[in-house]
Amino acid sequence: MNLLRFDSEDAWVNGACALWTDRLRHNPRLKLCLPTGLTPTAIYGEMVRRVGAGLASFAEASIFALDEFGGLSAGSPGLTRNTLRRQLIDEIDLPLNAFHWLEVGTEDVDRTCERYDAAMADGLDLVLLGIGPNGHLGMNEPGTPADSRTRRVDLHESTIHGSARYFPELLPHQLPRWGITVGLEAILASKEVWLLATGSAKAPIVQRAFLGEVTPDIPASLLQRHGNCSVFVDAEAGALL
Ligand code: GLP
Repeated sequence: MNLLRFDSEDAWVNGACALWTDRLRHNPRLKLCLPTGLTPTAIYGEMVRRVGAGLASFAEASIFALDEFGGLSAGSPGLTRNTLRRQLIDEIDLPLNAFHWLEVGTEDVDRTCERYDAAMADGLDLVLLGIGPNGHLGMNEPGTPADSRTRRVDLHESTIHGSARYFPELLPHQLPRWGITVGLEAILASKEVWLLATGSAKAPIVQRAFLGEVTPDIPASLLQRHGNCSVFVDAEAGALL
């Protein structure tokens, strides 16, 4: 595991985007899996700026959404696919058919998941991840086995309440209680994985995940066994490392 520590959030954004730009230059057909959440927002903004300035291109890349919330209307702004489109996809030169997202509205969720795994079957090049306060990755909650596939999952109570910040228009009882997530198997099989964390609230879980025992009880700790995983932290998130 490579620990990349940055003094400020600006340095953290620029550091991650410089490396992302570099990966796209070396492999224009980069196959990416991307999260939403508050953590990557500034990184997506900087990549949009770089594409606009002609410094980076996604013209031959492909992007898979990491997860999706269930039970909401298709237009809900907090859905992963809508958030990714707004913050990144619609502002860069990626062809729209190279953006893959999880359709939660279908009757046959299992089939949707099988198709998604099949589309990723030749392997991801780079997965970006945030980290949940309980160590979850995407919607892979504590207890998820390392060989889990893309599937429907129930969210933990703390994750449900934590998602209120993505859905300011919803009352607590309207928050999504389930979702579909890419499994740990595809994440751990990616050629490269970046775990992104900022702010003091993430410091304790970052410490447990990367200095503690490797256990499915903290899904992020499984990244310790990945041969090419980088952990990007600002000073606050990395304070206990
Ligand atoms: C959410 C998402 C994750 C995200 C994590 C951290 O529940 N399902 O994909 O990485 O929690 O979110 P944030 O970046 O907003 O702190």
